[in-house]
Amino acid sequence: MFRALASVLLCCFFLEASFWVHFSYGDLTTCSGIVPMTERGDKISITDFGGVGDGQTLNTIAFRKAIYRIQHLRRRGGTLLFVPSGVYLTDSFNLTSHMTLYLARGAVMKATQDTSNWPLIAPLPSYGRGRERPGGRYMSFIHGDGLEDVVITGENGTIDGQGDIWWNMWRQRTLQFTRPSLVEFVNSRGIVISNVIFRNSPFWNIHPVYCSDVVIRYVTILAPPDSPNTDGIDPDSSSNVCIEDSFISTGDDLVAVKSGWDEYGIAYGRPSSYITVRRVTGSTPFAGVAVGSETSGGVENVWCSHQD
Ligand SMILES: *[C@@H]1O[C@H](CO)[C@@H](O)[C@H](O)[C@H]1NC(C)=O
Ligand SMILES: *[C@@H]1O[C@H](CO)[C@@H](O)[C@H](O)[C@H]1NC(C)=O
Repeated sequence: MFRALASVLLCCFFLEASFWVHFSYGDLTTCSGIVPMTERGDKISITDFGGVGDGQTLNTIAFRKAIYRIQHLRRRGGTLLFVPSGVYLTDSFNLTSHMTLYLARGAVMKATQDTSNWPLIAPLPSYGRGRERPGGRYMSFIHGDGLEDVVITGENGTIDGQGDIWWNMWRQRTLQFTRPSLVEFVNSRGIVISNVIFRNSPFWNIHPVYCSDVVIRYVTILAPPDSPNTDGIDPDSSSNVCIEDSFISTGDDLVAVKSGWDEYGIAYGRPSSYITVRRVTGSTPFAGVAVGSETSGGVENVWCSHQD
């Protein structure tokens, strides 16, 4: 259904800064296997923690309790958190290591629009300040910091940022701090995101920063063409990132490779490297695959193809 909307075939590079891009022509034709898709022996459901998918109930405590249980019981092989069909409104929350967030068919996780309650976190050291406003920044809707072995997948359920309230604050210049991404992983490794639909992110959709071994495939990312800064996937100071077989239609770049900002990015000195983008289609008012802006830590080995 979404593929009918496809209007741009990607494989154009958009260079916004001066640096070297070196193409590495690997012989792999798929990301599968790069990060193992862990089978979880232990399975729990958000409904066991009081989750209610009626679109009204705030499920923040349910998600935080479920994650707390995964983090502290530490079942061998990790735990799968099942989100059944229904609409689950929640504030932002942190994931933990060795877990799978599994959205069943018809499951929707919806971000609350109560922005006054949204947690603030420190700016990224490679940016020195918020990307949009000085000081801290709002934590992403789904957040991971210092994690390993995390999977977000399922049967094409939806993660909905309800971003219009944030886009309007940006348009009206009433934003106090930098808008939250929909999903952000910081300092994490072994991340798989597949078979999920991302909708209406407040800001960038998927932002792996200081990460390695990240696979993003079979995702659909949608936001209106006039939504500000709703980049699809932004690998930032990250290495071994493989993005493939996805449809992205947003108000900004579909994929933008980054590595920090000006003196902060230079001082932090963490490049993005070994980034693969393969068979991504969609539409954008900007670039299909952008390298930049914000590339002060360097970018190397970017491979982009529409076939293999
Ligand atoms: C979530 O993670 C952020 C960033 O690491 C941290 O500042 C915050 O305290 C965490 N929140 C909770 C509820 O654990
Ligand atoms: C989910 O979406 C992907 C990408 O569009 C598609 O390849 C896959 O068959 C879908 N899976 C299910 C269970 O519908």
